[in-house]
Amino acid sequence: MSNIYQIAIDGSSGSGKSTLAKGVSKKLGIMYLDTGAMYRTCGVAAIKKGIDPKDADKVKELLSETKIEVKFINGEQHMILNGEDVTGIIRTGEVSMAASSISAHPFVREEMVRMQRAIAADQSFVLDGRDIGSKVLPDAKYKFFLTASSEKRAERRLLELEAKGDKSQTYEEVLKDIIQRDKQDSERAASPLIKVDDAIEINTDNIGIEETLETLLGYIKE
Ligand code: DC
Repeated sequence: MSNIYQIAIDGSSGSGKSTLAKGVSKKLGIMYLDTGAMYRTCGVAAIKKGIDPKDADKVKELLSETKIEVKFINGEQHMILNGEDVTGIIRTGEVSMAASSISAHPFVREEMVRMQRAIAADQSFVLDGRDIGSKVLPDAKYKFFLTASSEKRAERRLLELEAKGDKSQTYEEVLKDIIQRDKQDSERAASPLIKVDDAIEINTDNIGIEETLETLLGYIKE
């Protein structure tokens, strides 16, 4: 029997998915795939070409002439766009919005899902995103769904930005972006953000990252 297994962590932006997925990956010694980074790279491709990420025809054409690769260098995920490492530029507010818009196209999702399944096929992985438990890996051994209020998520995002010395956005602006992205991500027709029945829901409003990680690992050990 194969010892390969997958862990799915889904949730909205700022719910703590990536920090937790990184923690799980480190504790269990398994690989981590950040699927949002893949949609963000599609967003960067659109921005670089001056294409509206909501324009299906233009995005379709763009994808047909764009090469997106995921590389793991010393265990760290790097996003390669047409041969260029764009990992360092995918976390801006502009890219976040573009990623949210571009990820609504079913043909974009199909391609990303195909890549995600192929990457996670041969090794144990923890993946985070919006549709991991519902669509990418419905047979994942463990599924978690993280929630937190938009206000808490905006506070966290602002702290993250401040830690990077980025003072370009106010709390109100960050909160507005989060609410708009939530709406786009949960109301789109293709694989919207939903909690599947067999996912364990964890609300991270009042628990710190360490405690959430312990809770999650507790379920995995069971
Ligand atoms: O997790 P993130 O904020 O880095 O994701 C960026 C965008 O990509 C997010 O607005 C929605 C989209 N996304 C998605 O549709 N499906 C995923 N599995 C991961 C991200």
